[in-house]
Amino acid sequence: MMLLLKDLSLQLNGTKILNGLNLNLNDGEILGLNGPNGCGKTTTLLTIFGIYKQRSGHITLEDACIDELKTHERINSGILFVPQSLHQFWISCHQRVCGFTPGITVLANVCEVIKSERRALKLLKIFGIDSIKQSMPAQLSWGQQQRLAILRMCAFKPKVLLLDEPFGAIDLPSEKKLKKFIRQYLKENRISAIYTTSKSIKTKDFCDRVISIKDGKIKSLRKQEKL
Ligand SMILES: Nc1ncnc2c1ncn2[C@@H]1O[C@H](COP(=O)(O)OP(=O)(O)O)[C@@H](O)[C@H]1O
Ligand SMILES: [Mg+2]
Repeated sequence: MMLLLKDLSLQLNGTKILNGLNLNLNDGEILGLNGPNGCGKTTTLLTIFGIYKQRSGHITLEDACIDELKTHERINSGILFVPQSLHQFWISCHQRVCGFTPGITVLANVCEVIKSERRALKLLKIFGIDSIKQSMPAQLSWGQQQRLAILRMCAFKPKVLLLDEPFGAIDLPSEKKLKKFIRQYLKENRISAIYTTSKSIKTKDFCDRVISIKDGKIKSLRKQEKL
């Protein structure tokens, strides 16, 4: 088992957000986490990443409890995150390992992770951002920033990749193409991933398994089978 969330409960500003959530991610699995806006998808990923601390319950990574690990320690343990919005306030402390390093070009950002420039250029092309390789990340559109963030986080080859609605700002034809490439890349490198979306159709052809979340809880198996 790569990742296990056991009976997680969490409150934010006095409101219950996660409510006894159980989830398991198998080795090399791409798990879809589906549910409407506000059901707790981002909160679940941020809790796995150590940005939020659960009130009760436990998280284990490869059978080791990581409850007490801070975010940077979870990153060192092999968990990386592509955020839904690259403008979320907490990103500023973890830009390098959530999105990109500001102040250096797109190409330099990729070469930070992939030492071969030839391979970096190939990936920039696949991700459709080769024409802006000399631009600074701050000059990119949101969709272009998302592409760069996904590319970099994949290239780090984490154990667990948390993808929070990563194609939210990416046009549909590119999303389709990128999903195909990323799925194959994750499989080849045995990277386990959780992919959130509010549209169940988006999990098609990308996820090995899909679970639904409602009111901070995973819906019963029976209901999931109907998806
Ligand atoms: N920092 C916060 N303080 C209080 N409530 C929050 C905070 N962040 C998120 N929430 C609430 O938690 C619920 C779940 O949010 P979120 O996990 O972002 O949902 P999703 O990603 O599924 O759209 C929402 O009702 C949201 O308003
Ligand atoms: Mg969200």
